Amino acid sequence: MRTLDWVDDGIEMIDQTKLPQKTETLRVETVDDLVAAIKRLSIRGAPALGVAGAYGVAMAARLHDPGGDADRFEAAVERIRNARPTAVNLGAMVDRVAPIARVDPSAALAEAHRIRDEELAASVAMGERGADLVEELVGGSGADRDGVRVMTICNTGGLATVERGTALAVVQTLHERGRLAEALAVETRPLLQGGRLTTWELQRMGAPHRLLVDSAGPFLLARGAADVVLIGADRVAANGDTANKIGSFSLALGAANAGVPFVVVAPESTVDLATGTGDDIEIEDRGADEVACVRGVPIAPEGTEAINPAFDVTPAGLITALVTDRRVVRLDEGETP
Ligand code: MRU
Repeated sequence: MRTLDWVDDGIEMIDQTKLPQKTETLRVETVDDLVAAIKRLSIRGAPALGVAGAYGVAMAARLHDPGGDADRFEAAVERIRNARPTAVNLGAMVDRVAPIARVDPSAALAEAHRIRDEELAASVAMGERGADLVEELVGGSGADRDGVRVMTICNTGGLATVERGTALAVVQTLHERGRLAEALAVETRPLLQGGRLTTWELQRMGAPHRLLVDSAGPFLLARGAADVVLIGADRVAANGDTANKIGSFSLALGAANAGVPFVVVAPESTVDLATGTGDDIEIEDRGADEVACVRGVPIAPEGTEAINPAFDVTPAGLITALVTDRRVVRLDEGETP
């Protein structure tokens, strides 16, 4: 399953706002439509945002020749880069393709394809390396005999990348090895990426799984319900602090309390050595409506104020390891990215 791709001079993507009820393809042919799709989370997840951003610049280069219509091209590039602030992949991939487009607009698409292919390969590598690490971390426990029980938050599968995913690629690889006892998917308020998307992907891969509300995570870890917590990342700072979907920090605290390994799985493209610590990461505020409503239905009296940080930062000190497509960084042993 390809989450997004370049088809006949446009970007086609699975519209994630419609899942799991409908599997619809959304076709985008203008920068405005791409920016709107990113903002409403039709396309989402750090690596997928990077690929969408890269294709967006290629699209902008076709629509507004950077040599002839430089102002419009640069304005389009800025709009794509700023569509969402926390995932480093979006800005980083825009900044990788834009300079190429400025020199040779026709070369931009080839670079975007390269980025797509790199992310595809990265997902496979993370799945293998992450599954090896999980087996090593939980080896000797009950999980060694019965298979591994994984807890995960948000959606880190093929939908968040191009195919397979990050943390969910590890789950898929464990399942393919016959080593997955169960995946526990945290529903992920307010937009329910865990409840709507991760369950959809786990069902498609035939992996045993159950869904839980966000606030059950730390308690179930204390009760021994999982052997490992696996999360993705939107930005990993130079010291290992990791921004990911809101609720990740609570799970990290719960994992530390329970003595359960807490592992971040993210491609090298999500590691941002230019950002020193988690304090330097901009956290997207998505406004009150998403909290006061569920799927468009109000759950609080009209006029209720709400606070809605889309991400949190887990301090490096709570993270056992970072698994990328190229390496394992043992944060618990003092290593840094
Ligand atoms: O707001 P979202 O759905 O884009 O948030 C996504 C996440 O937090 C993912 O965990 C992260 O991007 C890693 S996905 C491979």
